[in-house]
Amino acid sequence: MKELEGGERVAQGDQASGLRSMASLEKPDPVQVVAVSSGKGGVGKTNIVANLAVAGALHGRQVLVLDADLALGNLDILLGLAPVYNLGDVLLGTRRLEEVIIEGPAGIRILPATSGVQDLTALTHEQQLRLQDGFLDIQSPPDLLLIDCAAGISSNVLYFSVVAHEILVVLSPEPMSLTDVYALVKVLSTRYQQKHFRIVVNMAKTAREAKHVFRKLTKVTDRYLTVSLDFAGWVPLDDYLPMAVCQQRAVVDLFPKAPSSRAMFELSGQLARWREEQPIRGGLLLFGPSVLWNQAKEGT
Ligand SMILES: Nc1ncnc2c1ncn2[C@@H]1O[C@H](COP(=O)(O)OP(=O)(O)OP(=O)(O)O)[C@@H](O)[C@H]1O
Ligand SMILES: [Mg+2]
Repeated sequence: MKELEGGERVAQGDQASGLRSMASLEKPDPVQVVAVSSGKGGVGKTNIVANLAVAGALHGRQVLVLDADLALGNLDILLGLAPVYNLGDVLLGTRRLEEVIIEGPAGIRILPATSGVQDLTALTHEQQLRLQDGFLDIQSPPDLLLIDCAAGISSNVLYFSVVAHEILVVLSPEPMSLTDVYALVKVLSTRYQQKHFRIVVNMAKTAREAKHVFRKLTKVTDRYLTVSLDFAGWVPLDDYLPMAVCQQRAVVDLFPKAPSSRAMFELSGQLARWREEQPIRGGLLLFGPSVLWNQAKEGT
């Protein structure tokens, strides 16, 4: 087990190698798990997750979204949904995870966060296990699990990043975003052995600006850290996006031809391609449910 801040642990060591050997290294995992984080708040994580989810569903994928901003999540509000239950109920043991899932646009499924009443900013190890057990409950597993992380570098953010196949980090042209992404990448690489990150630049005005911001980041990471950063793409600063937010709709759904929507569809295509590359990355998923879903699918 790997210790996280505050005593939380992430499945590692024997358990992880056991899981790894159970899952096939040769073929992509049926469930692709992508954690979206950013360090700094307000850079567009939730919008990117919501739109990647809807875009993926429109491309025929079975998408489940976990609102891992457990205390202050707002994915449900962004999509105009009013959940009756939430992950807090699962963590309290009063609801099964499957009962908490709600359906969103284009058939995406959502696990809503709490409404802020419970303090879930640092899941205990027992709560992490309860959540993982809950995933086993799901009758029809998705092929894409998107995790909308909270801002910052809390133990929850680190936990959800470590258990995912891919860490998609949202960077914006603001200088504070750069320093916060650096801090996130630093802690994940130096303390949790995460060496590969996908970077999406949001709210850039041009492709040139997006590439420039990305290069600024890699200049610092190349100098001080042993990590590889891939430019996953960029989403333009686009008035259509806040317009869609005000109507509580995903921009890809409401304005599919908007510049930000085109970028989200493109990024969604990238995600599907990463799935094929997963074995190359080598960092096989530690998220119990996915491995177990795989086993269930394979009838083992
Ligand atoms: N590409 C974009 N163009 C224009 N506005 C955008 C874009 N992306 C995000 N925004 C705006 O930025 C604001 C913050 O977005 P969002 O809630 O997705 O950020 P977040 O990173 O999830 O925030 P938090 O850290 O609080 O969870 C929203 O009001 C949204 O409308
Ligand atoms: Mg958010």
